[in-house]
Amino acid sequence: MHFKLWKEWFQFNATHFSQINWEGPDELTVKEKQLITSSLQQFQKGEHSEGKHLYQYAKSTGDLSYVDAIKLFIKEEQTHALVLGQYLDKQSILKINHHWVDNVFRFLRKLAGIKVSIRVLLTAEIISMVYYAALHNATQSNILRLICNQICSDEIKHIHFQCYAIKQFSAQQRSIIKKAIYWLQYILLKGTVVIVWWHHGAVMKKGGLSFRNFNSQCSQLYNQCAEMIIGKIQIPPAVEESTIRA
Ligand SMILES: [Fe+2]
Ligand SMILES: [Fe+2]
Repeated sequence: MHFKLWKEWFQFNATHFSQINWEGPDELTVKEKQLITSSLQQFQKGEHSEGKHLYQYAKSTGDLSYVDAIKLFIKEEQTHALVLGQYLDKQSILKINHHWVDNVFRFLRKLAGIKVSIRVLLTAEIISMVYYAALHNATQSNILRLICNQICSDEIKHIHFQCYAIKQFSAQQRSIIKKAIYWLQYILLKGTVVIVWWHHGAVMKKGGLSFRNFNSQCSQLYNQCAEMIIGKIQIPPAVEESTIRA
């Protein structure tokens, strides 16, 4: 399979947070801090994973280029956790070690093989993408806004990467199975949307999202993914060759 370009993309993108000036002014107000504290703590925790199971699953595919890409993908998610953690430290907000939503996602990802694991991951990536865009709009903090922007541009690539992998690994699947999986993942997405809104709705509201908007943006992204997976629309390339070689 052709994960070589994905590997190159993750290598190219490895210094993505270097533009953040941690010493610069930061305008997080007391009110904003109160609003985002528990939400940011949960997302910071959710971003951190050693990725052991995913790595093992990737190895079981026997595709070395995928294993390399997954290793770098896990590292990129760990960088998200690291940067958000650095921001929490800067704001003297404690990090948390456990959260039940995160535990449920971890449990689901370990349930079965690579295909289930990536589908669960993709669900989380879709939700994250919409959440971080709303968090960006919910705050005046320059640093947090830069972090959100960068995470969003990373997450959209993650979504394409997962869709690409699912498409490759499901190529032989019968269409009735594909349809069943589509609906199962849709149910997972809808359940997650409700739970995430319950925990993070206040932040997203401040960022200009209603539950209706949040729900429909997640569904829209999900349907785009479904169309990419079945080949109805093209998955954007990992990266234009010229970007990496420039
Ligand atoms: Fe992430
Ligand atoms: Fe991600």
